[in-house]
Amino acid sequence: MPRYWLQCFECQARQQTENTSFRCEKCGGLLEVKFNLSDRSPNWKKRSLSVWKYKELLPIDRQESIVSLGEGGTGLHHCKRLGKKLGLKKLYVKNEGENPTGSFKDRGMTVAVSKAVEKHRRRVICASTGNTSASLAAYSAKAGLDCIVFMPKGKIAPGKMIQVIMHGARIVEVDGDFDKALEIVVKLVADRKDLYLMNSVNPYRLEGQKTLGFEIHDQLDGQSPDAVFLPVGNGGNISAVWKGFNELQQLGLSRDKPRMIGIQAAKAAPIVHAIRNHASRVLPVAKAETIATAIRIGSPVNWPKVLRAIRDSNGTAETVTDIQILNAQTQIARDEGIFVEPASAASIAGLEKIVEDKKIDRNDTIVCVTTGHGLKDPSIIDRIPSSKQFYNLTGNNTDQLIKQLF
Ligand code: F0G
Repeated sequence: MPRYWLQCFECQARQQTENTSFRCEKCGGLLEVKFNLSDRSPNWKKRSLSVWKYKELLPIDRQESIVSLGEGGTGLHHCKRLGKKLGLKKLYVKNEGENPTGSFKDRGMTVAVSKAVEKHRRRVICASTGNTSASLAAYSAKAGLDCIVFMPKGKIAPGKMIQVIMHGARIVEVDGDFDKALEIVVKLVADRKDLYLMNSVNPYRLEGQKTLGFEIHDQLDGQSPDAVFLPVGNGGNISAVWKGFNELQQLGLSRDKPRMIGIQAAKAAPIVHAIRNHASRVLPVAKAETIATAIRIGSPVNWPKVLRAIRDSNGTAETVTDIQILNAQTQIARDEGIFVEPASAASIAGLEKIVEDKKIDRNDTIVCVTTGHGLKDPSIIDRIPSSKQFYNLTGNNTDQLIKQLF
């Protein structure tokens, strides 16, 4: 039996070959990597926290293929001040902004770029709202790969754009949104065998991202939390983290699994609509809009995996407004010293809403995943209340200023 293989998420067919758009050769469904978990007895205890700590459960065959910038091992912060305000004793933030390029994407990219190297691929491509392209550009630079990214014109946070530029990727600005950019990229890879697709339909990427779940479990001393809150865009991350918790259970390392709670921006919430309506499919939302540009996505490609993660875990999905996002972003920065980008603050805002609606037990262990660093998007500066923080020193008002300050 091989260590791992690709399998269709829908019809379970094992894939003989891998096509360029990572779709099932039988039914066109999404693919996932399956591991033979029966003969796995990983001895992880002595290794320090990182994505590659869990290498036995990552689909890379040769150590020499690994392209790493030191990803994973991010902090799980016990948020006592914010928790007190919400009446939660065991509130934690898993701060993915601490990754090398400032977002959780690095977990997936280290694995997917290593796979590209292992397969002797030279040219990688993705559509992106910013973080995927920043991460891909960095790992491509490290691996010496040619990197091309397609991004919605005028909708990329400046911190992400400078990363892509600095790491030397070529940038195609698309007159349209992320959904359009992804559609173009998926069509392109179908015709051109030299392009390796790096969006989250690439199942190898999601394997790296599942380590987020492994780390949370490790950092809680071998316990799974009761609920994990994540912002949802294309839906790769919530599905990957759920897969991680499932594998821990299959390995006998964890008895329980958390409820998966997906948070979307109110005007970009196709998953939330489907969950609320008990629908079997996700209908795309036209003209998705939110200040959280990272999750400004109307047609999430991983929707079958997301619906299953939320439903199988007895989880839920909730919307938050831009104002709730900005408030949560300010609160977590001021109460806990953690600066996250707007999309990441959606998980906190969603928790606040769910607590208010009494949909969570206050004794539960809750983990909010903050997916990207706040410095990614300084463009929101004018929307954050700061007037009371500024003072003028003109040269002849020192005494007056001292009185004001102290
Ligand atoms: N949070 C941040 C900061 C993101 O950049 C993204 C996705 C998400 C959450 C949502 O994750 O798509 O796995 O549900 N950003 C992608 C990008 C789309 O292109 O950078 P998801």
